[in-house]
Amino acid sequence: MKNGQAQRPSTANPKILSLFNLMCFFLFFGSGLAIGLTVSFYLQDFSFNIQLKQFSTPIPTTNRTEKSSRIGLKEYVKPPNVIHDMKDAELLWRASMVPRVGEFPFKRVPKIAFLFLTRGSLPLAPLWEMFFRGHEALYSIYVHSDPSFNRTVPKSSVFYGRSIPSQEVQWGNFSMLEAERRLLANALLDISNHRFVLLSESCIPLFNFSTIYSYLMASTKSFIEAYDLPGPVGRARYDHRMKPIVTIGQWRKGSQWFEMDRGLAIEVISDRKYFAVFRECCEASCYADEHYLPTLVSIEFWRRNANRSLTWVDWSNGGAHPAGFWRRDVTVEFLQSLRTESHCQYNGNNTDICFLFARKFLPGTLNRLLRVAPKLMKFN
Ligand SMILES: *[C@@H]1O[C@H](CO)[C@@H](O)[C@H](O)[C@H]1NC(C)=O
Ligand SMILES: *[C@@H]1O[C@H](CO)[C@@H](O)[C@H](O)[C@H]1NC(C)=O
Ligand SMILES: *[C@@H]1O[C@H](CO)[C@@H](O)[C@H](O)[C@H]1NC(C)=O
Ligand SMILES: *[C@@H]1O[C@H](CO)[C@@H](O)[C@H](O)[C@H]1NC(C)=O
Ligand SMILES: *[C@@H]1O[C@H](CO)[C@@H](O)[C@H](O)[C@H]1NC(C)=O
Ligand SMILES: *[C@@H]1O[C@H](CO)[C@@H](O)[C@H](O)[C@H]1NC(C)=O
Repeated sequence: MKNGQAQRPSTANPKILSLFNLMCFFLFFGSGLAIGLTVSFYLQDFSFNIQLKQFSTPIPTTNRTEKSSRIGLKEYVKPPNVIHDMKDAELLWRASMVPRVGEFPFKRVPKIAFLFLTRGSLPLAPLWEMFFRGHEALYSIYVHSDPSFNRTVPKSSVFYGRSIPSQEVQWGNFSMLEAERRLLANALLDISNHRFVLLSESCIPLFNFSTIYSYLMASTKSFIEAYDLPGPVGRARYDHRMKPIVTIGQWRKGSQWFEMDRGLAIEVISDRKYFAVFRECCEASCYADEHYLPTLVSIEFWRRNANRSLTWVDWSNGGAHPAGFWRRDVTVEFLQSLRTESHCQYNGNNTDICFLFARKFLPGTLNRLLRVAPKLMKFN
């Protein structure tokens, strides 16, 4: 009898109980469904294979839950789309993330990110097309041009679809520096980018891709020009309100065109301290793009810097702007002299190869460059 009584509750009202069970089941399944839907919408970018119609099957299968909770590393490390909706603050934050484990648990072929900061079109694009051809796995390209400029890039071009979301850039102004950081941050989102080169539309390569790739990948230092210059276009641009974060003795000038490795690039886009001081005290005629990077790197990261530029330029005529080169200037002798007639240090040794790029080549030089460069520089 005791047994019968004890079992009573479980058998007494089977109708109510099964109703209760049914409710529990729906409640449980319903919340599961809600969570599942939320997660699937939230993580759509990770291309999960959740099909909505699967949810109409009343009995959940273990297979589905297993599938939907698995993210492969491949999804995580694949290069993101060049076009995104991130604001600058969001982009810089995302790009500043660093894995603390030094070794990659997958095969990573390091790439060079070529960052082009341009006013309008890239008149020398055909030369660059030739330069890049055949090395698709080893580079990535990012272009930041003025948004008012409508680029029509053919689908077959290496520049196709490589324009980053950009904002208006006033040349020689603070927005130029912001544009450089935006370019760097975009390139940092792709984990295979290992070295970063900032170039303008008037730059040309002086060597073939293979030579430039090995030079940069084996370099122990970054290439940011930094020097102390007395006078109106150097020290006179310093503002005493920058003290004590930047003193006049720490103030540096250099070319805005740089080359740096991934570690330094992350430090640069993560900097808030010096950037805030420059934003406050280095507007307009201060030319932040010529001073921010040389000053920051010389104060905080000078051990990692070779203190020289990889981009050759001719300042010999004096004045505010370097010499521009015309069609008739482009000769084999001239280009050859840029390639090898310098002396500098590379990884602690002397070398004759100091410049990998040169500027400023005007649009009219294109045809001659196309004729002379491939042979001289041994393009493939
Ligand atoms: C899970 O999926 C595998 C194949 O993907 C299938 O062989 C197996 O029968 C499924 N198991 C269940 C419980 O549905
Ligand atoms: C760029 O294209 C848009 C629409 O495609 C047009 O409205 C605008 O005028 C163009 N701008 C220039 C500078 O050509
Ligand atoms: C630079 O930007 C400031 C505002 O940020 C503006 O007042 C100034 O006119 C700009 N200078 C040039 C040369 O465009
Ligand atoms: C680079 O410049 C910094 C600061 O101007 C200086 O302290 C450092 O010694 C230089 N490094 C090299 C390798 O010349
Ligand atoms: C630098 O020179 C030393 C010996 O002088 C040599 O062992 C080393 O490989 C050289 N490094 C490079 C990068 O050429
Ligand atoms: C690149 O140039 C170097 C020397 O300038 C040459 O030895 C090499 O074969 C060239 N590479 C290709 C892929 O053409």
